[in-house]
Parts: sequence; C-alpha cells; structure tokens
Amino acid sequence: MAAVLVAAMVVVLSVSVAESATVEYQFDVATMNVTRLCGSKSIVVVNGQFPGPTVSAREGDLVVVRVVNKAQYNMSIHWHGVRQLRSGWADGPAYITQCPIQPGQSYVYKFTITGQRGTLWWHAHISWLRATVYGPIVILPKLGVPYPFAAPYKEVPLMFGEWWKADTEAVISQALQTGGGPNVSDAFTINGLPGPLYNCSAKDTFKLKVKPGKTYMLRIINAALNDELFFSVAGHPLTIVDVDAVYIKPITVETLLITPGQTTNVLLTAKPSYPGATYYMMAAPYSTAASGTFDNTTVAGILEYEDPGSPSSAGFNKNLPVLRPTLPQINDTSFVSNYTAKLRSLATEEYPAGVPQEVDRRFFFTVGLGTHPCAVNGTCQGPTNDSRFAAAVNNVSFVLPTTALLQSHYTGMSSGVYSSNFPAVPQSPFNYTGTPPNNTNVSNGTRLVVLSYGDAVELVMQGTSILGAESHPFHLHGFNFFVVGQGFGNFDPAKDPAKYNLVDPVERNTVGVPAAGWVAIRFRADNPGVWFMHCHLEVHVSWGLKMAWVVQDGSLPNQKLLPPPSDLPKC
Ligand code: C2O
Repeated sequence: MAAVLVAAMVVVLSVSVAESATVEYQFDVATMNVTRLCGSKSIVVVNGQFPGPTVSAREGDLVVVRVVNKAQYNMSIHWHGVRQLRSGWADGPAYITQCPIQPGQSYVYKFTITGQRGTLWWHAHISWLRATVYGPIVILPKLGVPYPFAAPYKEVPLMFGEWWKADTEAVISQALQTGGGPNVSDAFTINGLPGPLYNCSAKDTFKLKVKPGKTYMLRIINAALNDELFFSVAGHPLTIVDVDAVYIKPITVETLLITPGQTTNVLLTAKPSYPGATYYMMAAPYSTAASGTFDNTTVAGILEYEDPGSPSSAGFNKNLPVLRPTLPQINDTSFVSNYTAKLRSLATEEYPAGVPQEVDRRFFFTVGLGTHPCAVNGTCQGPTNDSRFAAAVNNVSFVLPTTALLQSHYTGMSSGVYSSNFPAVPQSPFNYTGTPPNNTNVSNGTRLVVLSYGDAVELVMQGTSILGAESHPFHLHGFNFFVVGQGFGNFDPAKDPAKYNLVDPVERNTVGVPAAGWVAIRFRADNPGVWFMHCHLEVHVSWGLKMAWVVQDGSLPNQKLLPPPSDLPKC
C-alpha cells in the first residue's frame, strides 16, 4: 500500500463559551498508485489516503475544508447529508451549486453543522470520481450531551465501496458514447479492502478486533457507486440507533440494507466471553436489475476476539473456526420493504419528529429508466441497437448546465441556463408498474421546481417498470425528509395517504424508491438555495435520473441565502 503523503490536518481554532468550535482540514486531491486484486492502478484520493480522511466535528461546529486540486480532473466535494443551512455555496455538486475546482485551483468549503448527530460522509460530486474520493463525516453530539443509548466502548467507521480494475472515468465516458450499460465493479470493499473472498486479497482484509462483553458502534456508510448492499455479521445481532445522522427508535436485526448515500449507526455487543471462533462480517448486493448489470460478489471483513490467553497476539489465528452470516437472496425485495418499514424516528421531546402535518405543495414524480434515440443512422448499444439508455424524472432526463445553477439563480440570470417549469405530475400518465408503454423515449431538459421559503412539500416518487423495475435510492440535498409512506404497485391518491405515518416517520436524506412501488416523503423548504435531487446509483445519474429544486429566500434576514464566497470557482 502506498504511503500516506499528507496527514489530515485538524486544528481546533477556538472553543467559545457557546460550546461550538471551528474544525479545519486541508484536502489535497491527487492521484496515487494502489494495488488491489493483484493489480495496480492510479486512483484519485485525498491526502494520499484511501478511503479518505475522517472529518470529525460536533453538532454546532463550523467546518472549514480547504480543497486543493492537484489531480488532472475537475473536482468538487459534496458533504453528503449536511443540511448546509443558508450555505448552499458549500454543498458541492458540480454545475449545481458551484463550478468545478479546476486542476491547480482550490476552494474553501465552510459550513456549520446544525441539528445533526451521527454519521454522514463526503465524496467527489463530479462524473464518477467519487469511486475513490470519499471518506466519513463523524458528528458527535454537543459537548456534555449524551447519546440516547448507552455509550459504546469504541466507535469504528465501516465504509463500503467498490473496487474497479478499470478506470471508472473511462468506463462511464465509453458507456455514454455507445449508449450501452457501463461495466460493473470487480469487488466490494470495507474501508477500501476487498478481503478474503477475492483473489489475492486475504492480506487486504478489514479486521475488527473486539474485547468480550464490550459494545462497539459501527458507523456504516455505503459509498459504492452502483450497488445497494445487505450487511450482516455472523453470530452478532446489530442494533440500529441512527440513520443519516438522525436518531431512530432502536431496532435489532440480523441483516440490514444500506443504499448508496445512506449511513447507519449500529451497536454490536461482543459475546460475554472469548468464543474461540472468528466471524465474517459480509456485504453483498441487493438488485432486481437484469443479471450482469451489477457486481454479484461478496465482501467479507473479519470480527475477531482478543484472546485473553494471549492478548498481545496481533495476527488472525487461522486455526479458529470461521462463521459466516446468511445474507438474503440478491433480489429479496420483500426483505427490503420489511426492513425499511421498521425504521422510525425516535420522536421524543429532545429529538422530535418535525414532520409537516399540512402540505402546501404536492408533487408526483415518476422515476425510472427510458431511452434516447440513437443518432441518425447510428448504431448504439442501448436496450436496442437503435436506442441509448436514459433515465428520467417525470419523463425529463436532466441535463447539467455548463455554469452553476445556484449562481444563475442568485444573480437572476437564469435565462438560457434553466427553466422553472419542471412538471409537478407526469404529463402523460400510464400504468407505471404494469406493461411498459411502447414508446420509452424521454425528453431532455434543465428544468427546476421553484418553492417559496417555508413551503411544506409532499413528494410521491413512483418507480416504473420501463426496462425493468428497479429500486432507486433517491437523495435530496439541503434537507432531511420524512418517509411517510411506501408501497408496491401504483400509488393510489384516494387510499394510500390514509395510511401515512405522520407521528414517527423515519427522517433521512436518501430513501429507496421500491422496485415497482412508490415512496411518499415530506419536507419543509426552510433552506434557501438550489438543491439537487437524484438517484444515488451513479449509472442512473449519468443517464439523467436527477432534477433540482429552487428554494427562494424568506422575508426575514436569517431566511436568506448568504452571498457567495470570494473564492467560488469559475466555469
Ligand atoms: Cu451523495 Cu448528490 O450526493
């Protein structure tokens, strides 16, 4: 493994009486050679680390990250799940809230973490560079504020990723040229390590060493490009206490599901005495897509016990039996819907669930795949040889502009950049989860929804069966939302709202739209700016499964977007 070039720099500048501090980091983005699966390749990383450095802060802290781009690619970094109240300029998605940081340039991201505690993560937000440019964000409660559960003995980030033998930038640019489905990854990783189930990888295995009787908090993050994952640890139930940096009512499961973009904090209690065995912790994909369009492999890490007989023995004792967990079938959609239905907000006095009870604006979006025609007389490798793969929200396949939407909005110069007429409902309704229509072509556009400050929004996202029903993990920037309902088939506006949970729905920033089903979310548009919303499967993002919301300033001074920082990159 290549050496750590530059350590992350953490400087606590000031601790005021108001108990909030400033944490500062420098992120040097550069390429580095890394060997996995018997092959070496150059990847883009932060500070010579893969996965990248952990950003640690407490709720209420100001985070300042100076990103210096020493790589040959345009770059931008997104702080996934951070609310960015009034600080939209620091959100990060390229061409949405900022122009990219060009090679040789830098940009300082500044934001305060407000009302969130748990785990989030940061990642590159341009093209497919997040394949290797990612790391954890750990948000501790304010000083002196306890967790709403017994404090764990130790906390450990557990970040799932994908390892690609190919250059992911080449993979997606080639796929967009041919119109075909891109290649898939070669392995999954835990904290960058593929582990013993892959060739040449036993030495690259994540190990969690535990002491009998102690409780560990795993801060689980799915940073994979294109795969939702099941996760289970042999012989050790997992108690989920927090998702997407919001506490939930604790639930104990054998297996959990985590989509790209989501985070899950779990408590794992080691057995009371030395068990004389080691345990695999395994993750494998959930997918209903046609086989061959996903990486059907399994990653394992090892949970091993400190042997009280020889506490200094560092190595993994190969003579102990290894126990494996059983994961659900790859397409086990009913497991997924049962699991997600169990997640509930804590909804206590200290941690209330502020779900809007009344709604000002209602939206119904179809989300799914589609096609674009191949160029005239061209041959393409889409679902047919005269079509290209596409994806769309309400039949609009989103086209990124060549300048940043937030700047156009802020300066009032949006004409020619975007239009404000994103359809609130499908323009030509069809049987979304039935036999797909003959014409699967989608339109292109850079169309946004404009919301007034404070609007209570309800959005139903309806999956379609066009080119196969698949689950789509949708992520909304700038907000958490409440998941008030979900179901299979077509959403029924007459019957389904009566079943909404408006008491303790789970609050998060990324939710799976069920395969051949729908999900209903609510949020309050209390954050002025331009906010991206997209499927977090990168292949679908590339095909256009994305859109954006404009939230206008409110009338009070503290309801307005702050002016852009002076070093905001230019396009
Ligand atoms: Cu984690 Cu728009 O992304």
